[in-house]
Amino acid sequence: MKIAVFSTKAYDREFLDRANRDFGYELVYFESRLSEETANLAQGFSTVCLFVNDIADRAVLQRLRAGGTSLLALRSAGFNNVDLKAAAELSLPVVRVPAYSPYAVAEYTVALMLGLNRKLHRAWQRTRENNFSLQGLLGFDMHGKTVGIIGTGRIGTRVTHILAGMGCRLLGHDLKPSQECEKLGLRYVDLETLLRSSHIVTLHCPLTPETFHLMDEARLALMPPGAMLINTSRGAVLDTAAVIQALKRGHLGFLGIDVYEQEADLFFEDLSDQVVQDDLFQRLLTFPNVFISGHQGFFTREALAAIARTTLENIRCIAEGGVCDNAIPPPPVPKSKKGGQVKFPDLIA
Ligand code: NAI
Repeated sequence: MKIAVFSTKAYDREFLDRANRDFGYELVYFESRLSEETANLAQGFSTVCLFVNDIADRAVLQRLRAGGTSLLALRSAGFNNVDLKAAAELSLPVVRVPAYSPYAVAEYTVALMLGLNRKLHRAWQRTRENNFSLQGLLGFDMHGKTVGIIGTGRIGTRVTHILAGMGCRLLGHDLKPSQECEKLGLRYVDLETLLRSSHIVTLHCPLTPETFHLMDEARLALMPPGAMLINTSRGAVLDTAAVIQALKRGHLGFLGIDVYEQEADLFFEDLSDQVVQDDLFQRLLTFPNVFISGHQGFFTREALAAIARTTLENIRCIAEGGVCDNAIPPPPVPKSKKGGQVKFPDLIA
C-alpha cells in the first residue's frame, strides 16, 4: 500500500521507518503541508497521513477523493483541522492517535508553569551575560496554590496527578467528570468558579465549536489579577487579541502557550531568516511574562514511537476491513454560541 505522508520532518521519517519494519508499507514522504495547493501530490495514494497543521477542509478532501484516496490517517490526537462532515459525505474514514503519551504533554505543561513561575527563561539569559542579580526573578511556591484544569481527559488527568504530588489545590471543569481526578482531590466546579478561584488555569480540552475562544475577554476578566494561564491544547481555545489586552493591562500575570491560533503559518519551520508578518504573535513575544514554544508538548521519544506504530496499526485495521477503535465518528451538526452554524474552516488552528 502506498501512503502519502505530509508535513514530514527527519524525526517523523526516523520513527515511521522504524515502525514500518513490521508493516512493509510504501511510505512516501512530503515535507509540504497538505493544502489545496499540495493535495495533488497525493494523486494515486490510497492513504494520506497528516499532522496537526495540515489542512483537510472540504476542498482538499474533494481533491484527495478525486485522486483515489480512501483513508485519512492523522498522526495526532486533535482533529480540529479535518472537516469531518465533508469526510463522511465523501466516504473518507478518518483515524487518529488518541493517546500516544499523555505524560509527554502533561509533563511539558507543568514545565511551562514552573518555568514561568521561576522565570527560568529570564534567568538563563541573565547568567549567560554574567548577570547574577535575582531582582525580578521572584517566584511563588506551587504548594498550596489553586490550579484550575479545564478538560480532565487523558492529559488533564496526568496533570492532576503531577500537581497533586506538588501539594496544589485542584479544581476541574469538564463535561464528563473523572473519578480518578476526584480521588486525587480535584473538585469539579462550574467554569466561572474555576476561573475566579484559580492562581493557575490550564487548558486541556479539545478545540470544538463550543471551546473556540473559550478564554475570551469576559472569561479572562474573571481570573484573579496576576494569575497564570497555560495553553497546551489548541491555539484557538484562546482569543489571542483578548489575551494581549489582558497582559497589557497587567491583569493576566503570566501566559505560557505551546499552541497558537495561527500557528499553521509559523510552527515547525525555521523562519529565523524571515520577517514574521503576524503582528499579534510578534506582540506576544515582547512580554517578559509570556513563554511561547512551537507545539512541542508531544515531542518525546516515547510519543513519536507510539504515534508511528498506532498510525500504521490504524491504517492496517481499516485496510483489512476491521473496526478501528481510533476511527473518528462523523460529528453532529454544530451550533455556535450565538445559535448559528459554525463553518468548520473558521476553526482550523
Ligand atoms: P481527551 O479527549 O482525553 O480529553 C479532553 C477532555 O476535554 C475530555 O475529558 C472532554 O470531556 C473535555 N472537554 C471537551 N469539551 C469540553 C468543554 N467544552 N469544556 C470542558 N471540557 C471539555 O484528550 P487529551 O488526550 O487529554 O488531549 C486534550 C487536547 O490536547 C487535544 O484535543 C489536543 O488538542 C491537545 N494536544 C496537544 C498536544 C501538544 O503537543 N501541545 C499533543 C496532544 C494533544
